[in-house]
Amino acid sequence: MSAPDLTHNRFESLPDGPFPRLNALIEGIQPGKAPIIMSLGEPQHPFPAFVSETIAAHAKEFGKYPPISGTPDFRAAVAAWLGRRYGLGPDVIGPRKPLDPELQILPVNGTREALFNIAFVATPLSKAGQKPAILMPNPFYQCYAAAALAAGAEPVYVAATRENDFIPDFGALPEELLARTAMIYFCSPANPQGAVASLDYLKDLIGLARRHGILLAIDECYAEIYDREPPAGALQAAIELSGSLDNVVVFHSLSKRSSLPGLRSGFISGDRDFLMRFRNFRNIAAPQVPLPIMAASAAAWRDESHVEENRARYRTKIDAAERILGNRFGFYRPAGGFFLWLDVGDGEAAARDLWAKGGVKVLPGKYLSREDSGSAIHGGGGNPGAAYIRVALVNEQAATEEALSRIADIL
Ligand SMILES: Cc1ncc(COP(=O)(O)O)c(C=O)c1O
Repeated sequence: MSAPDLTHNRFESLPDGPFPRLNALIEGIQPGKAPIIMSLGEPQHPFPAFVSETIAAHAKEFGKYPPISGTPDFRAAVAAWLGRRYGLGPDVIGPRKPLDPELQILPVNGTREALFNIAFVATPLSKAGQKPAILMPNPFYQCYAAAALAAGAEPVYVAATRENDFIPDFGALPEELLARTAMIYFCSPANPQGAVASLDYLKDLIGLARRHGILLAIDECYAEIYDREPPAGALQAAIELSGSLDNVVVFHSLSKRSSLPGLRSGFISGDRDFLMRFRNFRNIAAPQVPLPIMAASAAAWRDESHVEENRARYRTKIDAAERILGNRFGFYRPAGGFFLWLDVGDGEAAARDLWAKGGVKVLPGKYLSREDSGSAIHGGGGNPGAAYIRVALVNEQAATEEALSRIADIL
């Protein structure tokens, strides 16, 4: 009897993650100076003291299984934040309103697991008699492609390049493709480019999704890190468009907002019917958020002062980048998020050089993108990230400025 084939062919087209690829790229190369890590988007600003205090005060609740739909206190804190952040009044948020917190706010164990798990519930066996497609920007957060493949959908990468201001034009895709599209992942502010979609763009996208029976998974985990204007949100766009949240699910996280990537805490909200189905699925298959974590998270969603401080720190680092890099490498101030997306000609070569000569670890943009299909709609062929490096401004000010000066000197 032959041994069973344990390779998961479904994932054949999935490359290794960006960070193992980066480690392989610089393997054996000694850093030229004391290392400064700017490859990983891991916020390093201090988080508020009340987080640890609240966890300690609720520690006994680690002895209980948490409910998948969270606590009333958590949902109330999130509902209040959504109301403040997106100008949604009591006519929108409340029992039997378009956004009923009881039914339409779900805690998640960090948004990554929810971005992954959503694909299982959103992907039918076939759509328009064909294999379902899941669309995503290119470059993109790598979890989207893994989710699409795991759910048996075809991931379709839609170019987000300088030519379209880093915002993909899903509406320009062929009708045949849109007809079999089950879900679209979209990220605003975008990782890696920091582009922010306008309210009108979001409304158009929601209209498109509704016409074609598509679910929108709108990744807004950088919504609180912005340069000037607070980015518009998809819930707000949906309500303005039609007074309902149909076809829209948004993802929010404390990882960036509150510099708590290790807390693993976020939430999703949106389309009522879909969220009820997703909740039922999650009740069987998804990780719950521990009760003490939920209590600390509720406190974090209720507090704005630490978020303002956090945002100001990023802004000061972007000011420094503007001063140090000027208009080299296609520098622009990202409207949202905390990444610089620099056009250095050859991102892999630059990443290697920066490590070897300056000890600065950055991520080649190629590892966040795929070769596209080569049609004009997809961006005309090639890998849209290949010329870029992504620089995460997550270190403290002095280390960030030192690294930016090294980048300017070396490249
Ligand atoms: C675009 C994007 N979405 C989602 C996530 C996941 O964040 P978390 O699981 O910490 O909420 C990240 C994390 O880096 C991200 O960059």
